[in-house]
Amino acid sequence: MENNMKSALITGITGQDGSYLTEFLIEKGYMVYGLVRRSSLFNRSRIEHIIEKKPDQLKLIYGDLSDSSSLNRILEKYTPDEIYNLGAQSHVGISFEIPEYTSDVNGLGTLRLLDAIREVGIKPKLYQASSSELYGRVTESPQTETTKFHPRSPYACSKAFAYYITQNYREAYQLFACNGILFNHESPRRSENFVTRKVTLSLAKIKNGYQDKLILGNLEAQRDWGYAKDYVEAMWLMLQQDKPDDYVIATGQTHTIRELVEIAGEACGFNIEWQGSGLNEIGIDSVSGNVIVETSEKYIRPSEVDYLCGDSKKALEILKWKPKTSFKELTQLMMISDLKNLTQID
Ligand code: NAP
Ligand code: GDD
Repeated sequence: MENNMKSALITGITGQDGSYLTEFLIEKGYMVYGLVRRSSLFNRSRIEHIIEKKPDQLKLIYGDLSDSSSLNRILEKYTPDEIYNLGAQSHVGISFEIPEYTSDVNGLGTLRLLDAIREVGIKPKLYQASSSELYGRVTESPQTETTKFHPRSPYACSKAFAYYITQNYREAYQLFACNGILFNHESPRRSENFVTRKVTLSLAKIKNGYQDKLILGNLEAQRDWGYAKDYVEAMWLMLQQDKPDDYVIATGQTHTIRELVEIAGEACGFNIEWQGSGLNEIGIDSVSGNVIVETSEKYIRPSEVDYLCGDSKKALEILKWKPKTSFKELTQLMMISDLKNLTQID
C-alpha cells in the first residue's frame, strides 16, 4: 500500500452493499480491506470481478463479527482510516426464526467492533449500517432523524442496540461514528429472498418456463425503495464531513408490494390483474389468462412493518446527496438483469 493511500475496512463486503461500496472506494483510490467469513461454499460472486481487476487495491481477511479476537487482530494489523460496518444477518423475516443469532451478530457484533477500536487505540471514522426498520410502527410520516423508533422484529431490535451503542461510543470516546438510517435499497445484486429480487427473478423464470407461480406474503406493505449503487455514496459522504452525525437516506416515495409486482410484470411483458383479497388474492396475467401470483401464510411475519417513507432533507442539505434512480427505473433494471441472466443460461 502506498503511504498516501486512504484505507477502509468493510465488514459485509460479500453482500449487496459491500460490493457496490468496494467498487466506489476503489474508484476513489482507496485500499480496501474486506472482512470475509468462512463458508462451505465460496460466496464471493458479487466481488469476483473486483478481485480480478484490482488485486492490488483489495485484500480479503478472514474474520467474523461474532469473534472479538479476529476484529482486534485485523484493526491492529491494518489500522484502516475508515470502517464501514455493513456485516449483518440482514433478513427481517428470518430474524424471527434466529433472534439470538441475529442479535449477536448485528447488535453485539457492532459493540465488538467499536470496542476493538477502543482497545487497539486507533481513531478511524466509522459508518454504522442502521435501518429504517427502526421506525417499525411509524409514529409520523415521512420519517426523519428525529422520528421515534418502534422496532417490530428481532432484526430491528438488534439494529436499535447497534444504533445507540454507536452514538454512545461517539459521545463517550469522541469516536467519529455515524449512523446511516437507510431505507430499503435494492439492485440486481440483491439476495433472492428479499421481495424485490424475489419478484423480478420469479417473473423472469415464469416468462422463460422455469417456474409456474410467484408466491408472496403481505401485498399491502409499503416501502421506500432506492438503488443500492446510489446509497453507498451517501455512506462515504457521511465520513467526509467535519463532524460525525446520523442521517436518513431515502427517496421519499413509497409503493406497495402489489405495485412492485405490476411494474416488474409490465417490464417482463405481463399484464397482471388482481382478484380476491387477503390470502386468497391472486394475480392473473391477462395476456395468457394464467394465474402467476398467489399468496401464502408462509411469508407473513409475526409482526409487520406496514409503511415506510423517508425524508432525507438533512442528507441533501449537509451531504449534498440525493437519490438518482426512481422506483420504476430500479424495478426495470432489476427485471432486465434477471431476464438477461436467464437467457444466458440457455
Ligand atoms: P446482505 O447482502 O445480506 O449482506 C450482509 C453481509 O454481512 C454479507 O457480506 C454477510 O456475509 C455479512 N455477514 C453476515 N454475518 C456476518 C458475521 N457474523 N460476521 C461478518 N460478516 C457477516 O446485506 P445488504 O443489503 O448489503 O446490507 C448491508 C447492511 O446494511 C446490513 O447491515 C443491513 O442490515 C443494512 N441495511 C440494509 C438495507 C437494505 O435495504 N439493503 C437497509 C438498511 C440497512 P456472507 O456473504 O458470508 O453471508
Ligand atoms: N422477503 C419477502 N418475501 N418479503 C415479502 C414477501 C416475500 O415473499 N411477500 C411480501 N413481503 C413483504 C414483507 O412482509 C415486507 O413488508 C416487505 O415485503 C419487504 O420485505 P423485504 O424485501 O424482506 O425487506 P424488509 O423491508 O423486511 O427489510 C429490508 O429493508 C430494511 C430497511 O428498511 C432489509 O434489507 C433489511 O436488512 C433493511 O434493514
